[in-house]
Amino acid sequence: MEHREYDLVVFGATSFVGKILCRYLVDQYGTGADLKWAIAGRSEAKLGALKRELGEAALPMIVADADDIAGLNAMCLQTRVVISTVGPYALFGETLVQACVQTGTDYCDLTGEVQWIRQMIVRYEDQARSSGARIVHCCGFDSIPSDLGVWFLQNEATKDFGEPCNQVSMRVKAARGGLSGGTVASLINVTKEAASNPQLRKELANPFSLAPAGHKSSKRQPNVKGAQYDPDFGVWLAPFMMAPINVRIVHRSNALQGTPYGQEFLYDEAMMTGKGLKGRLAALGITAGLGGFIAGAAIKPTRWILERFVVPKPGEGPSPESQKSGFYDLRFIGQTADGRTLRTKVTGDRDPGYGSTAKMLGEAGVCLARDVRNTDRAGGFWTPASIFGETLVERLKTNAGLTFDRID
Ligand SMILES: NC(=O)c1ccc[n+]([C@@H]2O[C@H](COP(=O)([O-])OP(=O)(O)OC[C@H]3O[C@@H](n4cnc5c(N)ncnc54)[C@H](OP(=O)(O)O)[C@@H]3O)[C@@H](O)[C@H]2O)c1
Repeated sequence: MEHREYDLVVFGATSFVGKILCRYLVDQYGTGADLKWAIAGRSEAKLGALKRELGEAALPMIVADADDIAGLNAMCLQTRVVISTVGPYALFGETLVQACVQTGTDYCDLTGEVQWIRQMIVRYEDQARSSGARIVHCCGFDSIPSDLGVWFLQNEATKDFGEPCNQVSMRVKAARGGLSGGTVASLINVTKEAASNPQLRKELANPFSLAPAGHKSSKRQPNVKGAQYDPDFGVWLAPFMMAPINVRIVHRSNALQGTPYGQEFLYDEAMMTGKGLKGRLAALGITAGLGGFIAGAAIKPTRWILERFVVPKPGEGPSPESQKSGFYDLRFIGQTADGRTLRTKVTGDRDPGYGSTAKMLGEAGVCLARDVRNTDRAGGFWTPASIFGETLVERLKTNAGLTFDRID
């Protein structure tokens, strides 16, 4: 790659999650020191205010609009990696992906919008391969802990058993933290699109919709759709809101790595709600609440009420205190074809959606800029596990408050 001034540019630095990310980068890497980075966004005034908030008057800034291809190309040509938090990505994200693949610039983001990721792969993968741009979606709570959590479990299984587990389940044991306006806007947008698009509903029902053509399994994938008892953990389960994106990323990772988890690999995710009647009632309640949200977001009048009165607005999210007191604890159980089992866990030390997500996204960007050589991973659409693997696990453990452990 020709010389570029910055290692990283944070596009959408003034978003709720972008501000947390910038604070993290200042604290972890400084400004203008070893890591050269800049902030970017559509509003010069807001970027200026962010610099004052961060106490970093000399932090370089770039003004560009999400729809302005010339401005985005000029931004991309100044940096090796762009991190984007400008979402909903299905509404604002495509031009930047286009600019990155045109200029051979690496990119990572926080989207969890399956239908948009699929469109980007279909439209831009060939161009990314020829320009050398590495595009990595889903570098936040969806889907890094799931994707690297499975990668970690399979590595341990291969060490112990000489083979991977052909079935893995992830269970959210505990989590604390709120939703932000941006995440809710993305969820409402996909529900709205799906309500009027049967092809999209079909795609959203296919667990292999993000895997390369031809990668599928003949076995039916498990899927927790309602309250259900889990004999492995002895608890009740409810559907997990992020499962649809995480499951598809894990299957894509398996395919991009050359199916090390096996062609017939089974994977599912759910939330633990506890034991006995209390656990069952909680599972029923969560299932009903999720169904109500989806039904409410699908039609115009209730969607308006949700957006206007119920959910946080864009730019809003959990307070610094609830980010700090937030955490998550994910449990994984894997089973080999002959019944041997392995349990692992992944934890994070901030609220999943923002405090921890911002640190994961920052480390993914730094990992792209510093650790992953173009000769090892060429241009194309990658997943966190398939492009980063061990290097990101180590970064997250050392810098970002995550743990990856076996439970023996
Ligand atoms: N995967 C995960 O775990 C995870 C977690 C958190 C968030 N997310 C996703 O990350 C995204 C950001 O979330 P958030 O809550 O931080 O959102 P937010 O606060 O609503 O911020 C949205 C950002 O987009 C910018 N923007 C909007 N239109 C633009 C345009 N035309 N040109 C340039 N910038 C534009 C806004 O700029 P201004 O500041 O100038 O208004 C703002 O910075 C959402 O899509 C959300 O779903 C994912």
